[in-house]
Amino acid sequence: MPKIMQETSKRHIHKGRSIGFVPTMGALHKGHLSLFKRARDENDIVVASIFVNPTQFAPNEDLNKYPRDIEGDMEKLKSHAVDILFFPEAKSIYPATFLTFVSVEKLSDKLCGAFRHGHFKGVATIVNKLLNIVKPHRVYFGQKDYQQCLIVQRMIEDLNIDTDMIVCPTIREGDGLAMSSRNAYLTTNERQASALIYKTLMAASDWVKTGNETTRTIKHKMIEMLKQEPFFSEIQYAGAYDTENLEELAELKKKILLAIAVKIGGARLIDNVIIDTG
Ligand code: PAF
Repeated sequence: MPKIMQETSKRHIHKGRSIGFVPTMGALHKGHLSLFKRARDENDIVVASIFVNPTQFAPNEDLNKYPRDIEGDMEKLKSHAVDILFFPEAKSIYPATFLTFVSVEKLSDKLCGAFRHGHFKGVATIVNKLLNIVKPHRVYFGQKDYQQCLIVQRMIEDLNIDTDMIVCPTIREGDGLAMSSRNAYLTTNERQASALIYKTLMAASDWVKTGNETTRTIKHKMIEMLKQEPFFSEIQYAGAYDTENLEELAELKKKILLAIAVKIGGARLIDNVIIDTG
């Protein structure tokens, strides 16, 4: 399968066609669809992959229950004029002989990485493999996974991968909740409660912009706000971070990342906004 995809890409490249690529784990939602649209606008050929990558899930995580909807996904790919679906089997991606992993140091241990050990090593490895297989001119990611974007961008630069990375805005539900395949895990009550994540980010944006708060008080107020919601069983992180190295900021600066991760019911939800007052 990877070989056939690789040969197909080579043929298109040989004919002078540009390839835009959207890697996904399926259970496609409007966030993914916005990436397909952007890729469609900017490239001759659009490739999407659907692969629930086992190496980015820890043994206690949701690999087996991760939402899967290949028929619904195929409809969406068709209606968004995606030319090629790469939908490999796990054993063609990770054969029994497989030994090589890509690890983007430092960035992978921060924020989500502190709670999901090995997660970003799995992400960097699969994205590297997919880029080698699909050979896209451009690859599209959503800003909702800001840390993932930063890590993939670092890997592309560090390993001289000949692909432009394009980060697209987070797509949200009417109440602000960031679209995510994992929202499917939420009960009606949990779904309603989850809107508080974005509300907290918006409140924190105001605190940053008014300039009367420190990063410490902003973090404190964000956590206090999230704690009001009894459905949140764990607040993993909330606060203001450096947009480049993901360190918690001791002082506010012109460009900052406000980010949150919480656990609710069977889901772990993340979201972020970037404030740029420069
Ligand atoms: O964001 C995702 O869906 C995944 O982490 C990705 C980039 C497809 C790698 O498995």
